[in-house]
Amino acid sequence: MPRCSRVETRVEKVNIESPNATAIRLAAGLLRDGEVVAFPTETVYGLGANGLDDAAVRLVYELKGRPADNPVILHVADAASAKRLVSEWPQCAETLSEKYWPGPLTFVLRKSSIVPEVVTAGGPTVAVRVPAHPVALALLREFDGPIAAPSANRSSKTSPTLADHVLRDFDGRIPLILDAGPTDVGIESTVVDLTGPVPEVLRPGRITPSQIRHALDGDVRVHRGDAERLSSPGMLPRHYAPTARLILLEQDAPLPQEAPPGKTAYLTLAQRRDVRADVCVFMPNSPTEYAKRLYATLRDMDDQSVGVILVDMPPDTEEWSAVRDRLRRAAH
Ligand code: TXA
Ligand code: MG
Repeated sequence: MPRCSRVETRVEKVNIESPNATAIRLAAGLLRDGEVVAFPTETVYGLGANGLDDAAVRLVYELKGRPADNPVILHVADAASAKRLVSEWPQCAETLSEKYWPGPLTFVLRKSSIVPEVVTAGGPTVAVRVPAHPVALALLREFDGPIAAPSANRSSKTSPTLADHVLRDFDGRIPLILDAGPTDVGIESTVVDLTGPVPEVLRPGRITPSQIRHALDGDVRVHRGDAERLSSPGMLPRHYAPTARLILLEQDAPLPQEAPPGKTAYLTLAQRRDVRADVCVFMPNSPTEYAKRLYATLRDMDDQSVGVILVDMPPDTEEWSAVRDRLRRAAH
């Protein structure tokens, strides 16, 4: 049912160490009623709905303005709950779940018959993960079912790492946001397709291909994020765009000769180069810290009406590949 009327959006602060039972019960009750609720995960905030309720998941698509051909992730409390959503649970899923769940790693597996078509965009596979966030886990246990949750941003905008980012996109449109402060990882989970003979990383994230290779003691492919092979529709290049235009400065590339027009910002790493800009932001030199800060920094630049962001590209190494991926998408 399309939603036209405004709702009052409550923002409930939730203690991350011991999530308050009242807020969790309120959120679970809303999910049972087919409502959409935003909640924190260790990666980014999610826009959650009952994953087995066709209409509730449709509402998420509608709220986000998400194309119907881009499937969503089902979040569950544990591996046993994940197994009910899939028709095959290969050994690699067992091994990776033991090692990395709860955590920022999403598996693509063959779906079972209980998963609604809207969740998988009509496809034969489903994405599942157990988030490593006490509030998300408390909500999943209380709700006692899978929660479908894309990142809680309007389609093609930067993912939210603060409850306030969610509020900006969805104030008056959803009844509740659980606010547990900034998220830890800062970028979306690694997505790995486990349906083929060789696992394939579809979206880079905190968990690297080497870590997966090491855990499985076998080969792992990495999906090339080119426009010709979009097996994961969410790999659409424009998925993480801020309003400002990004210019990526590879380490060995020449600097732009002329200053771009309008207000400019420079996101620099330690080897700060001779770039003139109105705003200079020193970014962390560790990939995990950089990832944690990235989206809030991009949103900050939008708030400051920056038109062009010059970015020192981090080195082209595996540990930086998730950050480089998000920067490239933001620049697209
Ligand atoms: O960290 C995360 O994964 C966050 C938090 C909220 O859990 N969620 C998130 O969801 O980033 P979303 O919808 O923004 O991104 C899900 C990604 C998309 O790239 C989508 O195309 C892919 O997962 N995906 C979902 N189901 C899939 C499937 N069956 N096959 C291939 N890719 C799939
Ligand atoms: Mg997203």
